[in-house]
Amino acid sequence: MEVKTSLLDNMIGVGDMVLLEPLNENSFIENLRKRFDHNEIYTYIGSVVISMNPYRSLPIFTPEKVEEYRNRNFYELSPHIYALADEAYRSLRDQDKDQCILITGESGAGKTEASKLVMSYVAAVCGKGQEVNKVKEQLLQSNPVLEAFGNAKTVRNDNSSRFGKYMDIEFDFKGDPLGGVISNYLLEKSRVCKQPRGERNFHIFYQLLSGASNDTLTKLKLDRDFSKYNYLSLDSATVNGLDDAASFRTVWNAMQIVGFMEDEVQSVLELVAAVLKLGNIEFKPESRVNGFDESRVKDKNDLKEMCELLGIEQSVLERAFSYRTVEAKMEKVSTTLNVAQAQAKTRHKVMGVLDIYGFEIFEDNSFEQFIINYCNEKLQQIFIELTLREEQEEYIREGIEWTNIEYFNNAIICDLIENNQNGILAMLDEECLRPGTVTDDTFLDKLNTICAEHQHFESRLSKNSKFLTDHSLPHSCFRIQHYAGKVLYRVEGFVDKNNDLLYRDLSQAMYKATHSLMKQLFPEGNPAKVNLKRPPTAGFQFKASVGGLMRNLQTKNPNYIRCIKPNDKKAAHIFTESLVCHQVRYLGLMENVRVRRAGYAFRQSYESSLERYKMLCKQTWPHWRGAARDGVEVLLTDCSVPAEEFAYGRSKIFIRNPRTLFTLEERRRACLEDLATLIQKIYRGWRCRTQFLLLKKSQVVVAAWYRRYAQQKKYQKIKSATLVMQSFIRGWKARKILRQLKYEKRCKEAVTTIAAYWHGTQVRREYRKFFRANAGKKIYNFTIQRIMQKYFLGLKTTMPSMSPIDNTWPARPYMFLEGAHSELRRIFHFWRCKKYQGQFTEEKKAVYEEKLEASEIFKDKKALYPSSVSQPFKGDYLEIQKNPKYQKLNSAVEDKVLLADVVNKINRANGKGAPRLFLLTKNNFVLADQKTGQVKASVPLPDLTSVSVSTQSDGFFALKLKEGSASAAKGDFLLSSEHLIELITKLHRTGATAADRDQINIDISDEFLVQFNQDKVCVKFIQGGPKNGNSAACKRKNNRLLEVSVPSSP
Ligand SMILES: Nc1ncnc2c1ncn2[C@@H]1O[C@H](COP(=O)(O)OP(=O)(O)OP(=O)(O)O)[C@@H](O)[C@H]1O
Ligand SMILES: [Mg+2]
Repeated sequence: MEVKTSLLDNMIGVGDMVLLEPLNENSFIENLRKRFDHNEIYTYIGSVVISMNPYRSLPIFTPEKVEEYRNRNFYELSPHIYALADEAYRSLRDQDKDQCILITGESGAGKTEASKLVMSYVAAVCGKGQEVNKVKEQLLQSNPVLEAFGNAKTVRNDNSSRFGKYMDIEFDFKGDPLGGVISNYLLEKSRVCKQPRGERNFHIFYQLLSGASNDTLTKLKLDRDFSKYNYLSLDSATVNGLDDAASFRTVWNAMQIVGFMEDEVQSVLELVAAVLKLGNIEFKPESRVNGFDESRVKDKNDLKEMCELLGIEQSVLERAFSYRTVEAKMEKVSTTLNVAQAQAKTRHKVMGVLDIYGFEIFEDNSFEQFIINYCNEKLQQIFIELTLREEQEEYIREGIEWTNIEYFNNAIICDLIENNQNGILAMLDEECLRPGTVTDDTFLDKLNTICAEHQHFESRLSKNSKFLTDHSLPHSCFRIQHYAGKVLYRVEGFVDKNNDLLYRDLSQAMYKATHSLMKQLFPEGNPAKVNLKRPPTAGFQFKASVGGLMRNLQTKNPNYIRCIKPNDKKAAHIFTESLVCHQVRYLGLMENVRVRRAGYAFRQSYESSLERYKMLCKQTWPHWRGAARDGVEVLLTDCSVPAEEFAYGRSKIFIRNPRTLFTLEERRRACLEDLATLIQKIYRGWRCRTQFLLLKKSQVVVAAWYRRYAQQKKYQKIKSATLVMQSFIRGWKARKILRQLKYEKRCKEAVTTIAAYWHGTQVRREYRKFFRANAGKKIYNFTIQRIMQKYFLGLKTTMPSMSPIDNTWPARPYMFLEGAHSELRRIFHFWRCKKYQGQFTEEKKAVYEEKLEASEIFKDKKALYPSSVSQPFKGDYLEIQKNPKYQKLNSAVEDKVLLADVVNKINRANGKGAPRLFLLTKNNFVLADQKTGQVKASVPLPDLTSVSVSTQSDGFFALKLKEGSASAAKGDFLLSSEHLIELITKLHRTGATAADRDQINIDISDEFLVQFNQDKVCVKFIQGGPKNGNSAACKRKNNRLLEVSVPSSP
């Protein structure tokens, strides 16, 4: 929110009417309108606040606003009621000056609201504490109670105060509130019985019926129904925006806070209920025996209930309603103590708040308006007096020459009304007290005679001829030219209203009530204090209390709030010019301004003045070192303000014409713009500089950090490089040392070696003679031994199997072992053969020996041999002993037959074969006929010299006999056998075993000679073709040749 520092800043219109230029009614109202349109509802006339009713809530009464205005000078901020309240409170607190705040304005102008604002402001700014807060709360809460009983809805205001209120708030020396005294003026009592159309009775009746609990209502014998009560107008029983039920609760709470005891609240409500009941009592006329008319109560139910409520005997009250006692004694006038007198005598600081009805001009003005307007006249007078006095006092205080001020003094009007001899009120009283017929007309006549000459009194029937033809002035009326305008009063009811009598019978009846509050309300009903004197008239009482009020106000420093109602519609934003104009006039606001401007329009303390305008002069800007007054003098001279335009007071400078002030203001504004530019310039410069310095600082920091970083990097690089170099150098040094050490070591070793060699040489030289001859041989033997050892140990693991036919043999490791190796192989073979042999039986051994012999004879010599290897040597193929056929033969053979087989005897002539039995014994072999078994030849083995066989696979063999022997007579035998190998082997063996004879030669060749008789025939073996079949064929070729063709072996 924008904060203003002076009333003159950001002004909408003119904040202080004193400065209005030109000053006339139009400009005045225009200024008000302009400000009202901009929600500026407050305007000053000097220290007076004009308040326009906004008819809506504005955000200018917040606690923040209170703080804003607190302890600020009056003109420092824009006009506000808070500024006035603050000023009043501070001069009360600090200067010990009693204050009064006078709030005036017509009905609905916002007086009551203004008084509440003042009270709430004071409550907010004054001291705090439990006790103080309680007092504050009580002061503030007195309002709802007062409003409930004293306010009502009228056509002008939904919450119109129907009484004048003056509240004295008392403060202690610190400025903390102690309590308050409230006095009220002229309550509109008639409203209880009757309300104009469109208006209501006092709020409390409606609040009670709407808001009280059923219980309470039953206790009070009431129904929640407005229509049941004659006193309650129905046409506007509910008011828009007013919640009666809620208000009742507020009032109830407020009464508790203010200090009513529970039973007191109850008593008050009973009284309210009794009033409602009272309204329902109706009377009917009845003629009495004595001829007088009498009034009687129609329906006694309400009366009964009322009496029950108040504790009055029904008959007493009924009588009081029906009779009137007239006592013809001298009546006394008793005056009640007024409030000021009742107040305690201790001296406290006091702030009075007066919320009184304003000037009223209706179409039909009666006694009330007269009284009210009289009151306003008095207030105006006191205002003029006080304002002028204050002005005068200020001039004197400030040492300024007093210039007379022309203004309208309404004392003359006050005099017209209140003069004790010929004042209107005095005359009304006189009329009322006068014996004889007194009517309103007689009163008017009296006025017409006595006041006719008064220049502010106007009447059609007065002697003053100038009004005779004034048709705006009816006959039953008189008109007064009030300071605020002319008001026409209808005299009807003046006398009655002034009398305002309550008959003694009634007050005495009320006094008899057991209801204590009721009793207190009618002290005049006390029979012990019967006062036969007439009670004072309403006019008299009012004059007296207004007089008292005026005296009271005169002792205090006045502060004015003048309320203005902007329209008749109770609506926001509407500014009805005529209405405002009317109020401006009757409130005398223009007069107010003129009075204020009569001397000097504007004044301000030297300090604040110098502070505000010092920029207009070089000497005073920016600082004035000397006294403020001198500064202002220099400043004004510099600004060439004409001398007659200002005057120097003691503490203030006085400026006569607002124009001068505005000129200064205008120059100030222009100057401020330049200054603003300057400030901006300097500020921008400062900001840029600051920014620059900051940047510079930052740059230095950044640079420092960067340098640090760079140096760090560089250092690390150097460090690592140094480390590398160090390591290289160390390495180099170490290597160098190592080399050195190695060299030294080698030297040492060399020395040792040399020494060892040298020693060796020495030793060898010394010992050569001992081992030179056999050392080599020993070493050689040792080596050979080791090798042999190794060889044999190795051989042990690599020996072949024990099978005689296994041909494998490990390779020899050394060349020089070749012989031993193959020898060993041979030995091993024999050994294993022997081992194998060892397993044989005698027979088997013999068989193998034969086979071995056969092998020795024929292996690789005769082609037939391989086929015989697998055939076992049976020997006896003929089973000669068992076969009976050969029994004879068997017996002819002496020895054991070694072999018996069938052989073919080759015919020498043709070469054909004839079968013969061949038997071999150990001494001879026998040839016998196969069929007969007859021995054909028996040759002793010593006669056999050799046996010839071919190399081929045939079975031919020739047995050659010793020449000259007996057996050789027939020549050699050429035979063929199927078991040739066995036969020859056995033959050879038998021959070999005989020790006494030579071995039989075995001749193997393909050509041999056979001795046939005397002829030698050559037997020749040839390879025959297959046409011969599988057997060999022998053929005699010639005398000398026998050719055997043998089939070629497969
Ligand atoms: N400052 C304000 N802000 C908002 N509304 C306001 C203000 N002042 C007055 N009003 C409105 O105007 C109405 C009438 O005001 P208020 O009762 O104070 O008038 P009054 O001058 O006391 O009239 P009366 O003489 O009839 O008592 C209020 O009920 C309220 O609605
Ligand atoms: Mg009011």
